[in-house]
Parts: sequence; structure tokens; C-alpha cells
Amino acid sequence: MREVSIVGLGIMGQALAKALLSSGFTVTVWNRTARKAKKLQSDGAKLAASVAEAIQASGITVFCISTHQDTLSLLNSAGVVLDGKSVIELSSGAPEDATELASYIELQGGRCLVGMILSYPSGIGSERASITTAGDEELWRESEEILSVLARNLSYISDDPKALATMFSALFISRQGYLFGMVYGALLFEKAGLPIQAYLDMLPQLNPLLQDYLDVVRTSVGSDNYSNPQASLETIRGAFDDALAPYKALNTRHDFPELMAEIVDQAIAAGFGGEQMTAILKVLR
Ligand SMILES: NC(=O)c1ccc[n+]([C@@H]2O[C@H](COP(=O)([O-])OP(=O)(O)OC[C@H]3O[C@@H](n4cnc5c(N)ncnc54)[C@H](OP(=O)(O)O)[C@@H]3O)[C@@H](O)[C@H]2O)c1
Repeated sequence: MREVSIVGLGIMGQALAKALLSSGFTVTVWNRTARKAKKLQSDGAKLAASVAEAIQASGITVFCISTHQDTLSLLNSAGVVLDGKSVIELSSGAPEDATELASYIELQGGRCLVGMILSYPSGIGSERASITTAGDEELWRESEEILSVLARNLSYISDDPKALATMFSALFISRQGYLFGMVYGALLFEKAGLPIQAYLDMLPQLNPLLQDYLDVVRTSVGSDNYSNPQASLETIRGAFDDALAPYKALNTRHDFPELMAEIVDQAIAAGFGGEQMTAILKVLR
């Protein structure tokens, strides 16, 4: 299938349409603000006069607008026929909205795959981009030709569309934990009156260690076995004391690192002191 429609030409929708055009797809586009389609039209995209026309033009339509609720509103607009049509929803939204959208499309005789893009628009089509999906499994298989143009790393997690919101939360909290940690590190450096650039220059040195953490998480959580640590929870608890000491000495805010230390204490009190750091999962459950 070499035809695809794109609804939504914001920064991301433009990048998606451009990548598909470059790969030789026949691309039909629609955007609420039509002037945003001008450049794509000159690159060969066809401009639909309405959402209904965009959906009619191709078997699969990719939506990339603000939210699932906005997509639902557009699908409710005049003349939209979904029978026999497929929607790949790449807009964001709450879990219950994903369920509502997929149910609505299926009730109208269509199919729906909800996807989450893990990339900036500039990364679309590259090795760095990932798209993870949930929803209609048959559509997932049929969409591979389109999605593989947009991202090199593709995955399908469940036939339940709201599973994607769980994946979003888990990945968001993972990366925000790291970001928060770096900011708390900067805070300490500032308070200590040390040159912040020295800290910023050292941060990339953490990268190999992060790869080790990734391996530990994948092997221990993946097997639910937290034995044979390279550094036990007891050892790490000692390092937390050392790490917290400068914050306390400088009377610097340390609530985030303190919370981490408290959770480690709970895990040790529960008898997991000789296990991997990831054994904290057992007290968080
Ligand atoms: N940018 C990123 O890095 C990134 C990364 C991953 C995922 N995403 C997701 O991709 C989606 C689009 O993001 P974006 O960065 O392209 O945002 P954007 O540049 O702000 O574009 C928003 C798009 O949604 C359209 N839109 C908003 N409300 C609408 C409505 N009620 N009816 C019809 N069209 C509506 C806008 O139309 P107008 O042009 O008429 O305003 C525009 O095409 C979002 O769900 C975002 O979470 C973005």
C-alpha cells in the first residue's frame, strides 16, 4: 500500500508527511490551517478539502494533532466515512480517550492503531526515532511499511489501546528521574560556589554507567531475580549518606535524594540489603 493520508500539519505532522513523500508514498494531507500545507504541496502532496476527503483518499490515515479528543471531534465532522478505513492515531491523550477513540472507529466499521512517537520532528526517519503502538494487531502488521519510514525502531505492545498510556508514563518517569537528578546535582554545585561548567563537563562521563544500569534493570527486573549484585543495597545506602552530606552541610534542598535514600532504607529493613539496587521494586509493589 503506497498511499497514505496525514491529518495535522504541525511541526510533527509536517515531518511525517515529508518523510513519506521522500520515500515515494502518494501523500494526501489536511490541516485545519490550510496554508501550512503549501510547502508539502510543492513537494508533491495532494491537499484534501476536508478531513472526510483525506480519509477517503487512502486506506490508512495518520492523525497527528494535539489530542485524541481533537481527533474524535474531527472524525465526527460532516461526511466522514470510516467503514473499511484505518486510522493510525499519533496524537497524544489520556488512556480513556484512546479507548473511546478506538471504540468509536471500530463501531463505524474502521480499524485503529494508537502510536506514540519517541523523537523530535528532526529525528523522524532516523535510527534515533521510535514508535510504539497498541490497538488493532492486523493493522499494526499492515502499517509496518508506513511506520518503518517514520522510525527505525517499531514495537507493538497490546491490543488494548490504553496500554500505550502506561508505556508513556513508565518511559516519561524513567527519563525525568535522570533529568531531576542532574538538576539537583547542578543545585549543589551552585550552592558550593564551584564552577558549574566543571560539573556539566563531567556529566557525559556517566553514560557508560547508565548503560550498566540499563543492563542491571533489564536482567534483574526481567527475571525478578535481584541476587549477586555488583553493588548491594547496603553499599549504595552508604553512598547515599556520603552524597547527602554536602547538601545538608550547605543547607541545600535535598528532598528528591532524601526520598531515594528513604526507599533504600525500606528495602534494607525488608531484608533485601544484600541484593541489587533494583530490589527496591519489591517494597514499592
Ligand atoms: N513535536 C514533538 O517533538 C512531538 C514528539 C512526539 C509526539 N508529538 C505529538 O504529536 C502531536 C502533534 O504535535 P506537534 O509538535 O506537531 O504540535 P503543533 O506543532 O502544535 O501542531 C498541532 C497540530 O494540531 C492541530 N490541531 C490542534 N487542535 C486541533 C483541533 N481541535 N482540530 C484540528 N486540528 C487541530 C494544529 O492545527 P493548526 O495548524 O490549524 O493549528 C496542528 O496541525 C501531539 O500530540 C504531540 O504530543 C510531538
